[in-house]
Amino acid sequence: MTKALIIAVDGPTASGKGTIARGLAKHYGLPHLDTGLLYRAVGKQVRLSGGDPDDPLDAARATGFPDELLEEPDLRSEAVGALASRVSVHKRVRAALLERQRAFAAQAGGAVLDGRDIGTVIVPDAPVKLFVTASLPARARRRYAESIKRGDDVTLEQVTDDLAARDERDRNRAEAPLVQASDALLLDNSQLTPAESLEAAIALVEEARERA
Ligand code: DC
Repeated sequence: MTKALIIAVDGPTASGKGTIARGLAKHYGLPHLDTGLLYRAVGKQVRLSGGDPDDPLDAARATGFPDELLEEPDLRSEAVGALASRVSVHKRVRAALLERQRAFAAQAGGAVLDGRDIGTVIVPDAPVKLFVTASLPARARRRYAESIKRGDDVTLEQVTDDLAARDERDRNRAEAPLVQASDALLLDNSQLTPAESLEAAIALVEEARERA
């Protein structure tokens, strides 16, 4: 029996890991979970209920968010992303979301999950792990272009500062910080187009599968 193809894709904000994960899921015919959406739903729920995202109990209570919240169009906004980064530091929040992510990964045939701690905490024995990154200026330029297209009133400097603040929080938190797993393959796509980046990711997945 062949081992289920579980692909863990981790990396910082605006690294393109979501696009790569979606592309890999399509290429290999696997289901995909954007785990950031779960943290975003918690961040949004804490606000809707009038709670404090920095309070561990308020944030933990918000993990009982209704599933419909995952469909909300503003879940992908920068404001909700910043809330997600704040609630995600709490141990209880991470613990409450753990099983849902593991159950998704355990589907017959495999799955693609993207986030911050997929290869280190959620599925540490995943046969394929990618760590996707790009330089801060490259990520800021991409995020800025997206924001302008959406009609947001922001400057490149603001976007750069926001990304740096999120990186700092995601990398330095005590619980499941963003870090490259020792057995993850690195993909730095600072100089690549999205299509080249996906092509490089597929090549790395094939390399990891041959080794597994
Ligand atoms: O990937 P994203 O930008 O949608 O994630 C939003 C925030 O959620 C991110 O700043 C940190 C948190 N997060 C996390 O802690 N662990 C994950 N597996 C995914 C996201």
